Amino acid sequence: MALTGLGLVGFLVGHMAGHLQIFAGKEAYNAYAAFLQSLGGALWLARAGLLGLLVAHVMSAIKLNARNQEARPQAYAVKTNKATTPYALSMIYSGYTILAFVVFHIAHFTLGALPTTEMTESGGVRDVYTAYVLDFQNPLLFALYAAAMVGISMHLAHAVSSTFRTLGVMRGKYREPLSKVGPLVGIATGVGFIIPPLACLLRIVSV
Ligand code: HEM
Repeated sequence: MALTGLGLVGFLVGHMAGHLQIFAGKEAYNAYAAFLQSLGGALWLARAGLLGLLVAHVMSAIKLNARNQEARPQAYAVKTNKATTPYALSMIYSGYTILAFVVFHIAHFTLGALPTTEMTESGGVRDVYTAYVLDFQNPLLFALYAAAMVGISMHLAHAVSSTFRTLGVMRGKYREPLSKVGPLVGIATGVGFIIPPLACLLRIVSV
């Protein structure tokens, strides 16, 4: 879980940094999107790798959950959950939220299967910029993305610190600072993802 999770976090940070380029304007953003498309075979390899990581991560989660149930089939009479956090307790729900979001998100931008702005061409390349900016002027679409980013933030807040525990480095004087890294990465990723759509909603970025 930790290794596949780390790979997925790497993709998320790269994707977030990439789409912050919406602030660089239409030409720069469309050139970035066209560059990704021009990777051809390498893009398909990256897509396959990403899908493999996601499937392996979800399978590990299902297995881990089953082992957890097996270890204690009957419920505790009293469960206080003292040494835990709300985001640790909701990992399975934030995980399902992310899965549902990924399906929705691919239908939206990659497949163009939703009744949103049609992607046209501009300067000989796909005009991802215009579709992106116009779509996030829609408060409903913005709200859906914002809700999913809360799920991403919560998931990462627990997952990243938990990875340090799995790797055996969460001990002694490192315990306290490392336990803060997860929430920090979670908040930074959620905020970083939602700033560009928010800028479109508020017309700070426009077509
Ligand atoms: C506010 C948040 C996000 C925005 C605005 C956003 C924006 C985009 C855009 C515009 C594309 C299409 C690029 C193109 O067609 O050239 C894209 C593709 C994609 N995004 Fe996101 N993204 C967001 C969050 C996420 C998250 C959280 C994930 C994963 C959990 C994700 C996974 C993907 C994937 C897998 C693709 C498809 C890449 C491909 O075509 O193979 N995105 N995103």
